[in-house]
Amino acid sequence: MNQKIKIKEPKGRLGVLIPGMGAVTTTFLAGIESIRRRMYPPYGSLTQMGHIRLGRRDEKRQPLIKDVIPLADLNDIVCCTWDIFPDNAYEAAKNARVLANEQLDPVKDFLTSMKPLEAVFDQRYVKKLSGSHVKQGKTWWDKHLMLEDDIGKFADTHSISRMVMIWCGSTEAYLEPSEVHQNIDAFERGLKANNESISPSMVYAYTALKNKIPFINGAPHLSCDIPALVQLADQTGVPVAGKDYKTGQTLIKTMIAPGLKSRLLGIDGWFSTNILGNRDGEVLDDPGSFKSKEVSKLSVLDNILQPDVYPELYGNMYHKVRINYYPPRGDEKEGWDNIDIFGWMGRKMQIKINFLCRDSILAAPVILDLILLIDLAQQAGMGGIQEWLSFYFKFPMTARSVYPEHDLFIQITKLKNTLRYLIGEDLITHLGIEYCNYYN
Ligand SMILES: NC(=O)c1ccc[n+]([C@@H]2O[C@H](COP(=O)([O-])OP(=O)(O)OC[C@H]3O[C@@H](n4cnc5c(N)ncnc54)[C@H](O)[C@@H]3O)[C@@H](O)[C@H]2O)c1
Repeated sequence: MNQKIKIKEPKGRLGVLIPGMGAVTTTFLAGIESIRRRMYPPYGSLTQMGHIRLGRRDEKRQPLIKDVIPLADLNDIVCCTWDIFPDNAYEAAKNARVLANEQLDPVKDFLTSMKPLEAVFDQRYVKKLSGSHVKQGKTWWDKHLMLEDDIGKFADTHSISRMVMIWCGSTEAYLEPSEVHQNIDAFERGLKANNESISPSMVYAYTALKNKIPFINGAPHLSCDIPALVQLADQTGVPVAGKDYKTGQTLIKTMIAPGLKSRLLGIDGWFSTNILGNRDGEVLDDPGSFKSKEVSKLSVLDNILQPDVYPELYGNMYHKVRINYYPPRGDEKEGWDNIDIFGWMGRKMQIKINFLCRDSILAAPVILDLILLIDLAQQAGMGGIQEWLSFYFKFPMTARSVYPEHDLFIQITKLKNTLRYLIGEDLITHLGIEYCNYYN
């Protein structure tokens, strides 16, 4: 047995701060309220429906994760949102067209009561959207102070004992880290000088970390993934995690690619394309925002397949990712993958995948799990980048010295072993000689 880590009891209300109240957020909000009212089981949520094996297989201990890990109770979650449009969550959910009316109407009272606060926004970063529900202030610093004020009032009104912030706003245009992002001083000077290389999501992230609130980035843009904010997280001992929720085509990719690699099957090419017609699709129709997404989606295969280690199998692989904005589909995305593979004696084969998916349905339980697990990290005193939460991200944040782990099955092992470690249980190594006779 490991030594048990001291974890504070998750008592009191957990405030969840959410910049962006579009498809993903409204699907999460409607779902969590429906689950609280016992209308649906929490499908897709590892923290709510997942079991964890403890000890040897012959001990047959497989409790629910939520029965052995001290996680916040769903009834203790209270949310606060920001958006550039003033629509309440019911109107925004109708607009997003992810859930049917018969699923929204039973929780209409709850959704109608959720009204977003004015956003920190800059259209240079999301070219396709313009909204009037935005904060007016001279500099980023002024807007950061306004966010602090919002958060303070929310915490007081709802008697909140702890908070978590999770970015569910639009994908911002691609940005390379520059001088202003290199350390906390430069970043704070940049906030006061209204530096144009600071994006709105960075202002939210900074505000969270400065107030010792864990921050999760669900989009592919940098946000807290810059040296200044990682330093701030390390200094304040506050957990951060990101980037880009792993849903849809990339989720499937990180299931299939490790399987092909484990059987040493070669890949000549992997072509992924999809059509979607929601607001996220519209935002990604802008080349700047698409570039952030493309970088996130392309990195996955290289990291899993390791073409430098396996040049004969993956050294010449052609990987192409397309996202096509097609309004008639709304949120009912359709993705196609064509994978050209080869095996024994070089014979070629093909795999075709046609995924009729709903991204927000896949993202909502990820949001719930991330909120509960980053709160757990905070309660256990784990600060800085939370690499063990890679399971939930397309482009996981890691320490600068290591490459990200993308293989879904390694990610789940890492996550569950971290949970075992936190509660003082043995780590599970799946060692081959454990259950066989060993004559030596
Ligand atoms: N849908 C998924 O499954 C999925 C998967 C991975 C990542 N993501 C990412 O999650 C984010 C949200 O996705 P979605 O489908 O809900 O998109 P959406 O377009 O439906 O909602 C995003 C909302 O954010 C608002 N917004 C934009 N800038 C803002 C700002 N600065 N402050 C506050 N609000 C702001 C927009 O007005 C919009 O209502 C996107 O970045 C998307 O790329 C989504």
